[in-house]
Amino acid sequence: MSQPHRRTVVVLAAGEGKRMKSALPKVLHPLLGRTLLGHVLAAAGPLRADRTVVVVGHGAEQVRTHLAEVAPDATGVLQAEQLGTGHAVRIALDAVPESTGTVVVINGDVPLLRTETVEALVTAHEGEGAAATVLAAEVPDPTGLGRIVRDAAGWLEQIVEERDATPAQRALREINAGIYAFDLARLRAALGKLSTDNDQGEEYLTDVFGLLFSAGEPVGVHVAADHVETLGCNDRVELAGLRRLLRDRVNEAWMRTGVTILDPATTWIDVTVTVGRDAVLDQNTQLRGATTVGAEAVVGPDVTLIDTVVGPAATVLRSHATGAEVGAGASVGPYAYLRPAARLAERAKVGTFVEVKNSDVGPGAKVPHLSYVGDATIGAKANIGAATIFVNYDGVNKHRTVVGDGAFVGCDTNLIAPVEVGAGAYVAAGSALSQDVPPGALGVTRAPQRNIEGWVLRNRPGTVSARAAEQARGAAEDASGGSTAASEGEAIHGGAETV
Ligand code: UD1
Ligand code: CA
Repeated sequence: MSQPHRRTVVVLAAGEGKRMKSALPKVLHPLLGRTLLGHVLAAAGPLRADRTVVVVGHGAEQVRTHLAEVAPDATGVLQAEQLGTGHAVRIALDAVPESTGTVVVINGDVPLLRTETVEALVTAHEGEGAAATVLAAEVPDPTGLGRIVRDAAGWLEQIVEERDATPAQRALREINAGIYAFDLARLRAALGKLSTDNDQGEEYLTDVFGLLFSAGEPVGVHVAADHVETLGCNDRVELAGLRRLLRDRVNEAWMRTGVTILDPATTWIDVTVTVGRDAVLDQNTQLRGATTVGAEAVVGPDVTLIDTVVGPAATVLRSHATGAEVGAGASVGPYAYLRPAARLAERAKVGTFVEVKNSDVGPGAKVPHLSYVGDATIGAKANIGAATIFVNYDGVNKHRTVVGDGAFVGCDTNLIAPVEVGAGAYVAAGSALSQDVPPGALGVTRAPQRNIEGWVLRNRPGTVSARAAEQARGAAEDASGGSTAASEGEAIHGGAETV
């Protein structure tokens, strides 16, 4: 379908947002995966405008840098002094060479706005051949907002800012959402006639409506079905309110696609995340950034995943992961920490108090307890015993460790990289390994054990230990004087668990 009108989108983002009390420009504050500005641009994206102009001012360089990331095709236009929304649009249109078409203007701080709503506004505007159409909403509390003033026949007569309004106008609950569609040519003409004769001494974009109405031009009002979409953000309390509303919207959408969310009030999913069918999200779960959760995976309670891929039917319990990959059917936690490039293959296990960074944990391999795995490759079905440390850093450089398929590393072992444990090899518990272990061999670095008989009674007389030792000696003598010393073939290897 060919578009009947050329379209330009103008986003107003030059204001400081004083009430945010922040070093960060208001429009760059984050909200579930995008900045406020990012949300507005995402809502406008599907309109397929021929041109998108973003008016920047406060924190212009920061906003431009952000724009280059999220909307590289948009043009940033500088409004050096914030002389009002009308002034901002006038400057924006200096960057628009066209003389006809539709201009959609959106305040940069309305992140809950949906594409469908802007689309409906633009369709109504273009369909009626209006000079200007404003998105309006009936709100419970209109404090601080511009009011829609209609004439006796119900036509929009003007938009009045609260500070310029009469008491009767202030009582109106139909407000200007700060989202508009204009006929480009008639907008340009009207902007040239704006005055600064108002309480703030600014050029108000909203005055365009009164000017056009007085000139007998058709101006329209499109009322939003859900006023929540039009909510702006002026301080951090409002930001928190918007975050809750967006959380509920996002959670509801995922539940409708077949995701179980056990406690929607404590589940926070960025708009950039995807979740598969029959996944279960337990309470206190945060899914952020480019995270994806596969079908039938179980995530939570108490999990934060940032830019992390969780495969189908995997489980992640009370853990934190960033930039990690968790394979199908793999299991993480409780209390695991996966750092960037931690990659767990299918059915791998990373258990309690285990940190993994820049490492591949092979299919079915296990690192169940109290370990640090850094810069390693662990083969299929290898078992890494409790408290194994991959000693990857010599103070200057990082080195890799390789553990072969089916290898068995005993508890409390230091693998001092670079080092390789061959396929099917064993490492004795308590070893500090700095040389390779060939496939199938047992590597052991422990000093032989020696027992000094009677040491406690001689050196710690009168202690709890000494009394217990005395009792044990008596009991052993009573039971025929058999030896209690350790046998020669004592166990020197062994994980905490062998399954
Ligand atoms: C504006 C509307 C008001 C509406 C409200 C909806 C006007 C005069 N008033 O009021 O009717 O109910 O939005 O939220 O337009 N900006 C610039 N340059 C400027 C001034 C503002 O880029 O010189 C940007 C701001 O960054 C912001 C947007 O325009 O994104 C709106 O500005 P703001 O000062 O928040 O306007 P309001 O007083 O809220
Ligand atoms: Ca505002």
